[in-house]
Amino acid sequence: MAADPALAERFDLKHLPDAFYDDPYPTYRALREHAPVKRLPDGGVFLSRYADVVAVYKDAATYSSDKHEEFSPKYGASPLYEHHTTSLVFNDPPLHTRVRRLIGGALTPRHIAAMEGRLVDRVDHLLDAIAAQGPGAEVDLIAAFASAIPVEIIGNLLDVPNEERAPLRDWSLAILGALEPALSEAQLEQGNRAVREFLRYLEGLVERRRAAPGDPEVDVLTRLIEGEGGEALSAPELLHNCIFLLNAGHETTTNLIGNGLACLLEWPGEKERLVAEPALVTRAVEEFLRFESSNQLGNRITTRATEIAGAALAPRTQVTLGIGAANRDPEAFPDPDRLDITRAPNRHVAFGSGIHQCVGMGLARLEGRVAIGRFLARFPRYRFAAPPVRARRARFRGHARLLVVADPIPSTPQETSA
Ligand code: HEM
Repeated sequence: MAADPALAERFDLKHLPDAFYDDPYPTYRALREHAPVKRLPDGGVFLSRYADVVAVYKDAATYSSDKHEEFSPKYGASPLYEHHTTSLVFNDPPLHTRVRRLIGGALTPRHIAAMEGRLVDRVDHLLDAIAAQGPGAEVDLIAAFASAIPVEIIGNLLDVPNEERAPLRDWSLAILGALEPALSEAQLEQGNRAVREFLRYLEGLVERRRAAPGDPEVDVLTRLIEGEGGEALSAPELLHNCIFLLNAGHETTTNLIGNGLACLLEWPGEKERLVAEPALVTRAVEEFLRFESSNQLGNRITTRATEIAGAALAPRTQVTLGIGAANRDPEAFPDPDRLDITRAPNRHVAFGSGIHQCVGMGLARLEGRVAIGRFLARFPRYRFAAPPVRARRARFRGHARLLVVADPIPSTPQETSA
């Protein structure tokens, strides 16, 4: 059956109906089928087909990541404007290249493998706390598990002292929340306040780190402070890219873990397969990333007149990349609305593609694999205690609450006989 053309006709990123936040996929399908280069009321376009999204990612000269033009009317002269236009993800080379090299050098496969031991300890500690609540207890997997893992990992990466990590998640949620296509005054205000507070905090941390540098091999903050080849970042570049890094790895990875654990409950056959064969977790994580991409939208602006899928784009056209839509395109993924934890090949664009492809994807994959794999080994019979509650966000797809009953399986002979 063809998708409803009215869904494509009505689509406006800045005015999304409630149903879209619960399930955007019927709309994405309608767009792919009826309006793959959808003209939006604000003059921009929305791309929903895999081939078009990949083509844009691969052509950074025609499709710029610079956001000065887009964010100026959105944020005015404000901390949010300064923050988002200074971070590497929203810049083109050369700033992008310099910062990316500095961060990437501390996130090689060797560095990531070295993080696994601490991550496993942290995950097991959280699982112990869930088990300690006893049989039948209801647990919010976002608050008690998924959100508690990335904050530690990213905190370790910049060596933020443990006792200072508490505000990081709220700052991050507020700053990334301000990237939503449509914003309320309250969201703007919260975002600006979070940037101000985060900057104040980081100024102190940078001062302390300058006085007592860490090991640049593993400490990303020391790497960013020292720069490379005598080319240090300016003070605002340094601070805003630290904020970006602390944010980039938070909500996205929380949502990967939450989306994965919710998907398994919604697809019990796939859950049973994974419980029976835990080694499938690596491929399962790729499928969660495709099926419920934590980051659903990307943005570019055309630097010149161009054409995509036969549609002409004027210079300075804002282009929204439908990552979540592309990852359900039947041209790229057979039976795309089915969760298949052994899907192969699975060339999803959940981490983007091209020169801005996610620097932290190795780390995100590790976190997803360890968190979901160890949770399932410990609580294979977990079940929903209430319908999951989606966060009302179009860009970062995840849950506000994921209430489950997580009865542990007995782990020792004594417990079994008790
Ligand atoms: C499931 C988790 C994650 C998802 C889905 C995700 C997704 C993405 C996407 C789609 C981009 C490309 C943006 C663009 O092209 O405009 C990106 C960039 C980036 N991500 Fe991630 N990310 C995740 C986790 C992480 C983690 C854990 C870190 C940090 C350790 C991180 C750091 C970055 C950085 C620094 C960039 C900018 C790269 C650049 O502009 O060259 N991400 N991410």
